[in-house]
Amino acid sequence: MKITLSIIKADIGGYVGHSSTHPEVVAKVTEVAQAAKGDLLIDVSVLTCGDDIALVMTHQQGVDNEKIHKLAWDAFVAGTQVARDLKLYGAGQDLLSDAFSGNVRGLGPGIAEMEFEERKSEPVIVFFADKTAPSAWNLPLYEMFADPMNTAGLVIDPSMHGGFTFEIMDVYTGKVVKLKTPAELYDLLALIGSVSKYVVRAVYRNSDGEIAAAASTQRLSLMAGQYVGKDDPVLAVRSQSGFPAIGEILEPFGRPWLVEGWMRGSHTGPLMPVSFKQAKPTRFDGPPRVIAAGYQICNGRLVGPVDLFDDPAFDMARHECSYMANRLRRQGIFEPHRLPPEEMEYTTLPKVMERLKDRFMDSGEKMAKDAKILEKEDMD
Ligand code: 13P
Ligand code: 13P
Ligand code: MG
Ligand code: MG
Ligand code: MG
Repeated sequence: MKITLSIIKADIGGYVGHSSTHPEVVAKVTEVAQAAKGDLLIDVSVLTCGDDIALVMTHQQGVDNEKIHKLAWDAFVAGTQVARDLKLYGAGQDLLSDAFSGNVRGLGPGIAEMEFEERKSEPVIVFFADKTAPSAWNLPLYEMFADPMNTAGLVIDPSMHGGFTFEIMDVYTGKVVKLKTPAELYDLLALIGSVSKYVVRAVYRNSDGEIAAAASTQRLSLMAGQYVGKDDPVLAVRSQSGFPAIGEILEPFGRPWLVEGWMRGSHTGPLMPVSFKQAKPTRFDGPPRVIAAGYQICNGRLVGPVDLFDDPAFDMARHECSYMANRLRRQGIFEPHRLPPEEMEYTTLPKVMERLKDRFMDSGEKMAKDAKILEKEDMD
């Protein structure tokens, strides 16, 4: 049975500030989406992470389907009305347009979609992060699908031994490139190590081209040309029997690393793997959070979710994140805790700079240099 997994997410209002979602907003979004179950949708599961809401949907309409996108759009519009009534913060934040125009790409919501033949058993993990950007997945996707020190299956399992192909997008131009690992591993790392420029969109199995993972980067490609690297992201990863095991997919999150986002989308911070309950970032609006929702897909039905980071084995990673957060906060407004100007989400800094523009004067050094030139001209 061929099914499509579509995850469409948006921030339509924060409670309080940017920290969480309001239950009445989530209930409204859920109600609209649930109404399509048995008709347009086979199943739907609603996830939240921080101030973002994701609709995890299964159906048979294929990717980029207008009806599916419209359903998600309508659910978010209905939720926005509730958020407005409660005067929640940034109500309708990610609905950048007033009207739906056939596809939610470029309209604001993030989308990760994939179509596949449902296997005899189809375990899938949906990762959902707040206060960061799709490039947050670059490092863990590399480890899951290309690093045998993380994923033993790349060595042990004959069906994974051929490696995986990564599809990477340049967020400035919207152009994509496919790189095959292990052969082009170093080229891959040369690109995806530059997290403010390149993001992984999808991963495919080399042996048969089967899709293994899809991330929400579509919006970025349509808005390319300006810096649009940040959008609290989702990622879907298929698991077991020819794909990495559940534990291999979760393992990168046991060793925290730094991502872009956090306060005002303008800082560097550790990505903290948390349970659903702990996905309410408050300290300096963070640090960035990620949840992992596990599903077994059964004839399109989403059996789950299982809260996969609700495991004491990730306690150490959470403590490490708090430690990393302390170290970074010591830097205050100074780089590299604060991102360089061109990567700051809210580009209000140029307005501050604009006011100072006319107050810049030639430095003494330059004046001394000019004086020397004049002196020399006098002598000539
Ligand atoms: P079980 O023996 O618990 O089925 O685990 C098998 C496995 O492959 C774990 O990664
Ligand atoms: P969100 O992207 O989660 O809305 O956060 C924005 C922000 O400014 C946090 O400080
Ligand atoms: Mg917000
Ligand atoms: Mg958010
Ligand atoms: Mg954000």
